[in-house]
Amino acid sequence: MNSEKHYAVAIDGPSGAGKSSVAKAAAKRLGAVYVDTGAIYRTIGLAAKRAGILPEDAQRLAGLLTRLSIELTYDAQGAQRMLLNGEDVSDDIRTPEISRSASAVSAVPAVRAFLLEMQREAARTRCVLMDGRDIGTVVLPQAEVKIFLTASPEARAKRRFKELREKGDGSSYETVLAELQQRDAQDMNRAIAPLRQAEDAVLVDTSELDFDGSVDAVCAVIREKLEQ
Ligand code: DC
Repeated sequence: MNSEKHYAVAIDGPSGAGKSSVAKAAAKRLGAVYVDTGAIYRTIGLAAKRAGILPEDAQRLAGLLTRLSIELTYDAQGAQRMLLNGEDVSDDIRTPEISRSASAVSAVPAVRAFLLEMQREAARTRCVLMDGRDIGTVVLPQAEVKIFLTASPEARAKRRFKELREKGDGSSYETVLAELQQRDAQDMNRAIAPLRQAEDAVLVDTSELDFDGSVDAVCAVIREKLEQ
């Protein structure tokens, strides 16, 4: 692949499809920067929770945004870190409660508008693999490569359940599946920038693929598109 060429890869899909881990590994293989946009929404979800603002309260949320400082940075190992008013909150945003809060705040137009430029800026000067829900449709509509990465709800819930159990979380498989379906419905049915496959996105279904197979599939699509 021509390493001189500046490119952006948009990877969208529902939660639990393995977007983050697959995109991160693919970015490493291709020598590009991985940008996790869900982490930015999660940081706002955390800020709202800390401020005692209901994620649905659009007016108070809009006020909160004017007082927030959110930074997307990378540590020495190249891992993305999120700073909220200077504090590294990268670990605090990975809880089921913040998943729900992030999904709710992400439906608020003021929040999406606030984050749009920050996401575009991240792709301006570097080759990126950016994952989210509306990267190919709204954030980077001119991306050289667009991938819609998905898997069946059951396959996604099974993976999430395993991950949570390894972390010591005792949620049942049924609860994990129900929460995932609720989040899918919320992300797909919101009025603004709903989760959907861009017309020019390539569908990659990982239901039957393991992790390495998913990374191979994503890298193959990217290589093929960039060589065209
Ligand atoms: O990818 P994730 O699960 O960390 O994202 C958390 C929430 O943020 C998700 O429920 C939907 C929202 N989100 C979004 O609306 N747009 C994005 N580009 C990324 C995430």
